[in-house]
Amino acid sequence: MFPNLIVVRVDGRDFRRFSEIHEFVKPNDEVALNLMNSCAVSVTEEFPDIVFSYGYSDEYSFALKKTTRFYQRRASKIQSLVVSFLTSVYVTKWKEFFHDKELRYPPSFRARVLSEKAYGCDVTVHGFSFTGHINNQHATCFHELVKHGKTEKEAQQYLKESGKKEKHDLLFEQFGINYEKLPVMVRQGSCILKTETEDIVKYNESGAPVKRLRRKTSTVHSKNIVGKSFWNLYPKLLKELGGFVDDIRKIEPDYIRSFLWEAKLLPSTWIVIRIDGCHFH
Ligand code: GTP
Ligand code: MG
Repeated sequence: MFPNLIVVRVDGRDFRRFSEIHEFVKPNDEVALNLMNSCAVSVTEEFPDIVFSYGYSDEYSFALKKTTRFYQRRASKIQSLVVSFLTSVYVTKWKEFFHDKELRYPPSFRARVLSEKAYGCDVTVHGFSFTGHINNQHATCFHELVKHGKTEKEAQQYLKESGKKEKHDLLFEQFGINYEKLPVMVRQGSCILKTETEDIVKYNESGAPVKRLRRKTSTVHSKNIVGKSFWNLYPKLLKELGGFVDDIRKIEPDYIRSFLWEAKLLPSTWIVIRIDGCHFH
């Protein structure tokens, strides 16, 4: 519903298996991350109303501008277009990133639409960046614990009971890893921003430049994305995403969760999925 922000979240299906079979570097394969980033840039460029994206691991979230009327805001249309396009780009670009590695079987992704009610882009971005950081820190610790002799079950149990600071200390004290020194793409995830730049397209007879506004996508890896100073550099994008809310800390996680809604299909009814090519002519 308008004026909620529409976010499409795409997640690799059983990428645990996919990354094992394709021998991804553990816990973070930078080539695989770059492939995901490149796919997300293609998605962002394919759909003009997607203005901001965030991703890490096998997951990417795409935010549409608040006033979008893309496919009359119909959730199933929007999510199926985004996920099918991303999947085919992933397969198409595989060789460009993994020169010496065959794609052994077709990967698949699933998508859902989160309709982020009435909160500003700072809350959305904060949520993105927070989950990215937490999940990566968890993956790094898990990998080290298993590498140093714990079973997967023991490692899970250990991490369940430890907070952000304990995980940080564990990495530093037991494994000599300074988390802050890991590549920023791994720690912070990746953001794709669609901003406007003024390009000179030609010069007229009197030599004056003729300028045109052009949308440009850029990728950043930074924890600054949760700060206001970062967003103030992109006033147009900020406005498209709905601006800031007054006090981010006043928003309860339960309030945010209450807008996660998923349609479940009734039992004892036939489930038929109809797939139709988009612009196949
Ligand atoms: P579903 O999403 O529920 O279908 O399962 P999933 O196996 O994809 O799990 P999830 O999305 O929760 O997590 C992604 C998984 O992909 C991680 O647990 C890793 O096993 C794997 N993965 C993602 N990125 C990398 C990477 O860079 N390197 C390696 N080695 N594995 C990765
Ligand atoms: Mg997954």
